[in-house]
Amino acid sequence: MNTTLENKQDNNQIEQIEKKVKIQKPKKADFRMHAHVNPLNETLFPYPLNYNQVDWSLHYPKKFGKDPLKLYLNTLEYPITYDDQVNPDCSQSIVDFLDIGCGFGGLCFALSENYPDKYIFGMEIRGKVVNFVGEKIRALRDEGQAHNVSVIRTNTMRHLPQYIRKNSLEKIFICFPDPHFKKKNFRRRIVNPGLLSEYAYLLKPSGRIYCITDVEELHNWHVQHLEKHKMFKRIQDVEQDSAAKLIWNSTEEGQKVERNKGSKFIIVCEKV
Ligand SMILES: C[S@@+](CC[C@H](N)C(=O)[O-])C[C@H]1O[C@@H](n2cnc3c(N)ncnc32)[C@H](O)[C@@H]1O
Repeated sequence: MNTTLENKQDNNQIEQIEKKVKIQKPKKADFRMHAHVNPLNETLFPYPLNYNQVDWSLHYPKKFGKDPLKLYLNTLEYPITYDDQVNPDCSQSIVDFLDIGCGFGGLCFALSENYPDKYIFGMEIRGKVVNFVGEKIRALRDEGQAHNVSVIRTNTMRHLPQYIRKNSLEKIFICFPDPHFKKKNFRRRIVNPGLLSEYAYLLKPSGRIYCITDVEELHNWHVQHLEKHKMFKRIQDVEQDSAAKLIWNSTEEGQKVERNKGSKFIIVCEKV
C-alpha cells in the first residue's frame, strides 16, 4: 500500500473514532471564578445596539435548521459579533422564559425539560460560568436534548432591553440574587423600582416574575418594591404555580441552601 493511501485510511479511522466520541459534559470545578462582578461597571464585552441585531438562530439553531453544536455565548471563547445584517426572520421575539443571573444554569435545564414547548434564555454576567452552561447545553444537544434552552453573557442591568422586546416574556426568574448587604451597594441589587418597570415592560400582560432568596432582609426588599409597584400584583396561591415549585430546588444556590438546611423566601407577582 502506498503511503498516501495509508495516510488517508488513518485519517478516515481517526474521523470515525472522533465521530463516535460523545461530547463530554463540562465539570463545574474547571469553571470556578470570582463570586462577584460589579454590574455597575462599564461593559467591556460586545452587546447589541437594539434587539434587531440579535440573531436568535445562533441561540436556538435547531429551530432555524442550523448546526446545534456550535456555541455563541458572547464570551471570549464563543464570541458573537453584533451588526445590522441579521435576517429579520431570525430577530423576532422567541424567548418565553428568562432567567436573570442564571449562574450554573440549574433552573434553565429544569425549565427546558419541564416546558419542552417554551424557549428558555439564561443571562449571566460571568464569562466562565456562561461557558460552563453553554458547554453543558452542547453536550445535551449532542444527545438530542436542550434545543429550547440557551445562555448568554451579558449584564442585564445595562442591556436587557437590547435583547428582549416589549410585552414578549411569559416569565422572569430571579433566583438567589446577590444580596449586596451594604447600604451603599443597594443600587447593585437586581430588583429596584426602575428595573421592575423594565421587567414589567418586557413581560406580556399576566406574565409573571418570580423572586426567591435565602436572605430574609432581601426578601423584604423584594416584597416592599414589588407590592409598591403599580404594574405588579402579588400572587397568593403560589403552590398552584408549577414554575414556582421548580425554582425551589433546581438552582445550584437553592440546592446549597437546602443542604445547609437554610430558609427560602419566595414572592411571585403578575403583570397587571
Ligand atoms: C448568587 S448567584 C445565583 C445563581 C443562580 N440563579 C442560582 O440560583 O444558582 C447570582 C448570579 O447572578 C449573576 N449576576 C449578578 N448581576 C448580574 C447582572 N447584572 N447581569 C447578569 N448576571 C448577573 C452573578 O454573576 C451570579 O452568577
